Amino acid sequence: MAVTMDAIVSLCKRRGLIFQSSEIYGGLASTWDYGPIGVELKRNVKDAWWRAMVYERDDIEGLDAAILMHPQAWVASGHVANFSDPLVDCKSCKRRFRQDHLPNYIGVRLRSAEMPTDVGLTVTIAADSFDDAMKKIKQGKEWSSKPKGYWTADQLEPEHVVKVCPECGGELTEPRQFNLMFKTHLGPVEDSGSVVYMRPETAQGIFVNFESVMTTMRRKLPFGIAQVGKSFRNEITPGNFIFRTREFEQMELEFFCKPGDKCQPGERDDMQWWEHWKEERTNWYTRYGIRRENLRLREHAPDELAHYAKGCVDVEYNFPIGWQELEGIANRTSYDLTQHMEHSKKDLRYFDQERKEHYVPYVIEPSAGADRGTLAFLCDAYREEEVEGKEPRKVLKFHYSLAPIKCAVFPLLKNRPELVEKARKLAHDLKQSFYTVYDDTAAIGKLYRRQDEIGTPFCVTVDVDTMTDGQVTLRNRDSMSQDRIPLEKVESVVQEQLTAARR
Ligand code: GAP
Repeated sequence: MAVTMDAIVSLCKRRGLIFQSSEIYGGLASTWDYGPIGVELKRNVKDAWWRAMVYERDDIEGLDAAILMHPQAWVASGHVANFSDPLVDCKSCKRRFRQDHLPNYIGVRLRSAEMPTDVGLTVTIAADSFDDAMKKIKQGKEWSSKPKGYWTADQLEPEHVVKVCPECGGELTEPRQFNLMFKTHLGPVEDSGSVVYMRPETAQGIFVNFESVMTTMRRKLPFGIAQVGKSFRNEITPGNFIFRTREFEQMELEFFCKPGDKCQPGERDDMQWWEHWKEERTNWYTRYGIRRENLRLREHAPDELAHYAKGCVDVEYNFPIGWQELEGIANRTSYDLTQHMEHSKKDLRYFDQERKEHYVPYVIEPSAGADRGTLAFLCDAYREEEVEGKEPRKVLKFHYSLAPIKCAVFPLLKNRPELVEKARKLAHDLKQSFYTVYDDTAAIGKLYRRQDEIGTPFCVTVDVDTMTDGQVTLRNRDSMSQDRIPLEKVESVVQEQLTAARR
């Protein structure tokens, strides 16, 4: 059964993963807060990325740059001039749309000689083009609201057929470019000299620190700088839950390497590193549980590519809303460092000892969204399963490393103080090794189901027999198997499985 976005949103709300932001004030459009379970999930996604990038490799350094940067950095990067979307407004209902996201609702606006010039009639039809609109109109189906006698379909000219507001059929303004960067002011004076931007990507914080990281960490090409952090874009059409929001987190790597003509025999050039990162990043998603059939790579057509890019591929995931970008992997050539060199007047070239030559490195950029990644992991983990002799269950089959809570401990009977005490102590001890919770707020069957719904891989039950045989029941989320094991072995048995899954 295909998972729906509604099922995910509802589970997230019900089980403390993700809430509408400022809900007590009626909410703020397209902004979301991660609740106690969601914050763990997203942290685990970011940690898994950091582990794969920084800890498991020896050619990448980490960085945490400031969100506010010198405004010239955004002039150099091209964001001030070009980071915009074409925006249209509806003159009637005042709604705002990205022109390139507008569905093909075409309005036919006609004025006949008999009509006063300020009166027109708009009929809204779903059509892909003028020809398609004409065809439908001539078939007569769409013509019901025509005031008889004023005009005929023969009078239609292409200029009478325009895109109209998909909400109310109203007239739309001409498109204008809308810069997506949020502006604010540094310090108390709100004049144009104090304008700073909330970063729309984390990447530029890496480029401006390239020289400092390379020098302080004594790095030679190739090496990368990884960063995870918030970015802000005043998106015109955010939506689809946490898929597109105005405040989101990115996990970006800028990997600095030699362009082909500077490579020694046997060294990987920029295009080979690009291939490497396509494979690495795809493998990262499957390693953490995304099914391979739900991932695909879509290479950008030449007319989609930024003028400086040598290649770009999107890692796409089959979301409930269809195939959509999860991450972009671009060969950005020497563009960004060259731009920052020009605008800052600082020499950001690399000195190649072997060639005794200065040049600007090329950059491969795998740029992923932490929230979008979290949504993909959620969708892929979500299952509704039949259980023999019992109610069907909803379960999030997260990779153990991503599971928000690793282990939950319950007393079988909460009115037996000795069971409660033992279970509480076990939970407390396990917390030292992995995130464990204690719960006694429902009957055991319900407690298992709750933990299934938030993806907890292990549940431990302390029962009456525990008091005499020292054994507890260890239940596995996926197989639902229940094994009796000695209480003192719980930590090592769970830890072993968590570690094995991570490798
Ligand atoms: N530095 C390159 C860059 O920022 P991008 O394709 O604009 O490239 C990279 O963004 C990733 O960031 C996207 O693939 C997506 O996962 C995430 N992302 C971008 N805009 C987003 C938004 N409005 N909401 C949530 N995630 C977003």
